[in-house]
Amino acid sequence: MFQNNTLAGRHLLVTGGGSGLGLAMAKTFHALGARVAICGRNADKLNQAAPTIGEEVLALPCDVRNHEEVVALFDRLDEAWGGVDGLINNAAGNFLSASEDLSPNAFNAVVDIVLKGTFHCTLEFGKRLISRQRTGGNVLNIVTTYTETGSSFVLPSACAKAGVLAMTNSLAVEWSTYGIKLNAIAPGPFPTEGAWTRLMPDPSIEEAYKRSIPLGRYGHPDELANLAAFLLSPLSDYIQGGCITIDGGERLMAGQFNRFVPLMPRPMIKAAFNALKPKKD
Ligand code: HXC
Ligand code: NAP
Repeated sequence: MFQNNTLAGRHLLVTGGGSGLGLAMAKTFHALGARVAICGRNADKLNQAAPTIGEEVLALPCDVRNHEEVVALFDRLDEAWGGVDGLINNAAGNFLSASEDLSPNAFNAVVDIVLKGTFHCTLEFGKRLISRQRTGGNVLNIVTTYTETGSSFVLPSACAKAGVLAMTNSLAVEWSTYGIKLNAIAPGPFPTEGAWTRLMPDPSIEEAYKRSIPLGRYGHPDELANLAAFLLSPLSDYIQGGCITIDGGERLMAGQFNRFVPLMPRPMIKAAFNALKPKKD
């Protein structure tokens, strides 16, 4: 479905593009013809990542929590390319903690990156597009599957990502006037180093966790990158304010009898059901 020019002519900024899912997306966008810029706090990490993405990648250190740094980042992009027409808000912070143990600073550490960082970048991106009277442009926000349900042990992230989804939905209507598209992706579990070193405390938990995914496996970063490329391409022009889940079916496991599925092999389940069936004389 993609050609090597599907994203040709596009200029895309991936926040947190130096590692994990951001890096995978940057590689896919570049391979599909886009010019790609990545940002993050760690300059060494960005400089190592850039050549693995491809030629003419801009690696620009920027802490998205800091509004002035974000303004300077967009100034650099204006100088280099005359601006960007796509923003992928992927930078995030997260960790596991019982909520009663959180300090105000710990809550801020995540909310400042995820919610305020996304706000800083989205506002700067939108303001510049609007002032140039350009129509078009995409914002793609990477959220999580727990934006609606919430989740134990990741309270700051759950609050921040729910805010990012509200931002996506709000601006999807407000900025439609300017032809700006805003969508979100809600990933299930993708074992990146950044996520797994912070969120997977024990190998035994990991095994149980995997069994709770209907497709029986974690996601591959390329699968998410393909979805992101689709949402940035003209192939998805009529999707506005969407939040597409990519999680192997994990979010649906709340369905009451779904828990039978990973518990027993199918013949055993059928035998158990047959035993309950009224016998005919
Ligand atoms: C409790 C913690 C903590 C932890 C930090 N803090 N880690 N509290 N448990 N594990 C507290 C500190 O004690 C401090 O509070 C405050 O948070 C700030 O800590 P710093 O270390 O100074 O923060 P900072 O250097 O800004 O780092 C931000 C960070 C860090 C979020 C804490 O983890 C980070 O840089 N993360 C970036 C990458 C990342 O998180 N990737 C994962 C994304 S995965 P006090 O009160 O002591 O000062 C993801 C997946 C979701 O989002 C879904 C998965 C299925
Ligand atoms: P990751 O590799 O840790 O990615 C996070 C990136 O954000 C890093 O490159 C980090 O770089 C950057 N970052 C953090 N704070 C920043 C700041 N203040 N300013 C600029 N950049 C900052 O983890 P990942 O798994 O790929 O996560 C990518 C996205 O997917 C996140 O939005 C995450 O919430 C989402 N997600 C992931 C999963 C999963 O299972 N992996 C599931 C659901 C959602 P620096 O440290 O150099 O700044």
